[in-house]
Amino acid sequence: MPPRIAIVSDIHHGAPSHTKRGDTALALMEEFARFVADAKPDLVLDLGDRISDVDPDTDAVLQSEVAEIFRSIDVPIRHICGNHDLDHLTVAQNTEILGQDLASETFELGDWRIALWRADAKISRHEGNRGFNLPEPDLLWLSRMAQSTDRPTLVVSHVPISGHAQTGNYYFERNPQYSTYPEAARIRAALAQARQPVVCLAGHVHWNTVTPVDGITHLTQQSLTESFTTGGEPAGAFGLMELSDTVHWRVLGDDPLEVRLTPRAERWVPPLTPFA
Ligand SMILES: [Fe+2]
Repeated sequence: MPPRIAIVSDIHHGAPSHTKRGDTALALMEEFARFVADAKPDLVLDLGDRISDVDPDTDAVLQSEVAEIFRSIDVPIRHICGNHDLDHLTVAQNTEILGQDLASETFELGDWRIALWRADAKISRHEGNRGFNLPEPDLLWLSRMAQSTDRPTLVVSHVPISGHAQTGNYYFERNPQYSTYPEAARIRAALAQARQPVVCLAGHVHWNTVTPVDGITHLTQQSLTESFTTGGEPAGAFGLMELSDTVHWRVLGDDPLEVRLTPRAERWVPPLTPFA
């Protein structure tokens, strides 16, 4: 039986904020825990933004409330930090609350390799340097992983790197510089070094997307509590992904999506020069 992964993203526990229904997060997480108990996947992935940040003390309490529900799940869980997890808390504080090391890592799942690319997701608020700043060691980790991987690889991060358009996105249409890393093209070039099928999975942008680039398909999963695509009610998005020769990804809830794709090891032909 091919391995299956249950996925939850952008839980945003806390007070409602913009269209994020953080007030519904804990109840939806209880539902997610029951979903996992029924589905019995091999792994649970949390793609980050577990809370809507307030201040250091409040954020520690909010994180602990989410962590408590994760602890009731009887399946191996891997967490990634999002920008809201890091606004007032450090990676070390998140590590302590979750009881889990939060450095980038790879491990095998069936015939696949899972690459948890826990690249820095803190958003800088400094004048002249606003947004994500990818530390060079995070780029080097991904490049070396891509060069050396010897089996189909699922790359998981908080921030998507496809460069997909943000047209219609409530948060990012008019703030596209916060939707990805400024270094996204270089990150994709690092991934293109892989000689194996690669699929990328991320959260952050609060919608479901499928974006093939250079033979690598990039997926983003809707937030658990987002409501801008669902008429004000939380999407309640639970993901379930099966990894074999094909990748079968379903997002359940009120903003559903189902995708089946066969990733290839070959990259695409480089784009043509301008017609003019
Ligand atoms: Fe988020």
